[in-house]
Amino acid sequence: MPYAAAQQHTAGAADGAALFQTYCAYCHGSHGEGGRGADLTTGEYQHGSSDNDLFSTIRYGVRGTEMPATGVNDDEAWKLVAFVKSIGSQGAKEVAPGDAGAGKQVYARSGCASCHSIDKQGGAIGPDLSDVGRRRNLKYIEESIVKPDADIPVQYRAIQVVTKSGQTINGIRLNEDDISIQVRDLDDNLRSFLKADIREIRHDKPSLMPSYTSLSRKDLDDLVSYLHSLRGAQ
Ligand code: HEC
Ligand code: HEC
Repeated sequence: MPYAAAQQHTAGAADGAALFQTYCAYCHGSHGEGGRGADLTTGEYQHGSSDNDLFSTIRYGVRGTEMPATGVNDDEAWKLVAFVKSIGSQGAKEVAPGDAGAGKQVYARSGCASCHSIDKQGGAIGPDLSDVGRRRNLKYIEESIVKPDADIPVQYRAIQVVTKSGQTINGIRLNEDDISIQVRDLDDNLRSFLKADIREIRHDKPSLMPSYTSLSRKDLDDLVSYLHSLRGAQ
């Protein structure tokens, strides 16, 4: 029974994670952070948040939008429901290690507000952080600060692959490991290249965000705690 299957969240979520990388990540981002598809980390879904609503969205798509019926079967769709639920509101259950009050000072003196807004105060070059504590887990927030290039939301991740035979392919990176890279080219084709055949991979748009590796461990914990406490308008 599908409904019973949905109850097996923990078992299903691990399989769902792998399915997600294959069928969903190129639109929703490798962490579900959004891109061409919706941000799935918010725990709030426009087309319904119940298990049955999510199942229907994932199994049949959303008519009139770019969200396709992806061709996964019922069992796989329930595993994806479990996975999507596991990434939604992922920051909510975690306990931050630092002092959020002190972190607010670190934020103020580090110049973050020149690019980011919180409650409509600040710049717009980077994402609005007013609800970042609801959308992102602690690890993601910390990594965003010290290694911004590690996970640039998928829509920023433009790359250029230059092959040894002299071809240049522009597109977005879908997946990459040490032997190969998969790219969606500008004509919407999926292309896979062996690294042995590649002369160069150029990252045309690395993150605009500087990496804050010089923050002390305490400042970083405090800053992460501050951001973790930001949950947006309730
Ligand atoms: C071709 C791009 C594309 C692919 C592939 C895709 N999605 Fe989507 N998805 C979208 C878009 C675009 C939306 C937003 C639809 C809208 O406008 O409401 C969406 C919406 C959703 C929603 C509803 C969000 C909400 O707020 O209600 C869920 C859940 C979802 N997708 C899950 C998945 C899963 C799981 C997969 C893989 C099986 C997947 N999607 C594959 C593009 C895609
Ligand atoms: C020069 C502009 C700039 C500055 C300064 C800057 N950021 Fe960013 N930030 C960005 C951009 C652009 C992104 C999106 C691309 C990425 O994730 O690397 C981003 C992403 C983030 C994210 C991920 C947000 C999300 O929704 O996923 C966090 C968290 C973050 N920044 C925190 C900070 C903090 C804290 C500071 C100050 C210590 C800071 N940023 C300073 C430009 C900036």
